[in-house]
Amino acid sequence: MSKLRLGVNIDHIATVRNARGSAYPDPMRAAILAQQAGADGITAHLREDRRHIRDGDIDTLATELTLPLNFEMAATNEMQAIALRHKPHAVCIVPEKREERTTEGGLDVLRDDKYLAKFIAPLRDAGSRVSIFIGPDADQIRAAHRIGAQVIELHTGAYCDYHYAGNFTERDAELARLRDMATFAHSLGLEVHAGHGLTYETVQPIAALPEVVELNIGHFLMAEAMFVGLEPAIREMRRLMDDARA
Ligand code: PXP
Repeated sequence: MSKLRLGVNIDHIATVRNARGSAYPDPMRAAILAQQAGADGITAHLREDRRHIRDGDIDTLATELTLPLNFEMAATNEMQAIALRHKPHAVCIVPEKREERTTEGGLDVLRDDKYLAKFIAPLRDAGSRVSIFIGPDADQIRAAHRIGAQVIELHTGAYCDYHYAGNFTERDAELARLRDMATFAHSLGLEVHAGHGLTYETVQPIAALPEVVELNIGHFLMAEAMFVGLEPAIREMRRLMDDARA
């Protein structure tokens, strides 16, 4: 099986910084520590309301980071212009609503296929790998492939939520959907990533899916870092992923 890449999402370093309006903690410092701890990439989501990552953070990451940057963004003209200015390694298109606490569902590619096809073409032409954040649904995956995305990131939030609600029947059904849809997406030639809500308890069944080549993980790692430090938290996640893969 191919090695599984770990993308560390550093949004919540910026959340803590912004809570006090201070200059620290610094997301770039977290990115460097994540690299030292075995991360293969850094993920940052510039939201429309700039609640965590800000434009200056993206400028710094784009110029100073030596790891690939996965720039998460909504499909808006403003974000497209920022992505085209920086040409990050990857762009992950996510749905965004101001009132949500986090990215609660996958993108509806079927509904917006014509708009999204036009939207992602210049990003691809600029050299970024375009990823679509999507639920485990065959029609949505077919649509992502049709509009020219190179990558899909499967939303693991529902699987994790069922786990922590103790609803193991639904959790296992969702895991089966994720497994089937990873296989299906791979058969279309799409690269398959996964993420959202993953923790030490939930990561291994996802890490064991052979078609999944990258996980993007943030919130849990930052929470764990408060107790054990960022590097040990990431190293432990890395270990669990590698064990599941072995
Ligand atoms: N992948 C995508 C597309 C996301 O939007 C997020 C959250 O920003 C993540 C992965 C990481 O999720 P979490 O912070 O819950 O680990």
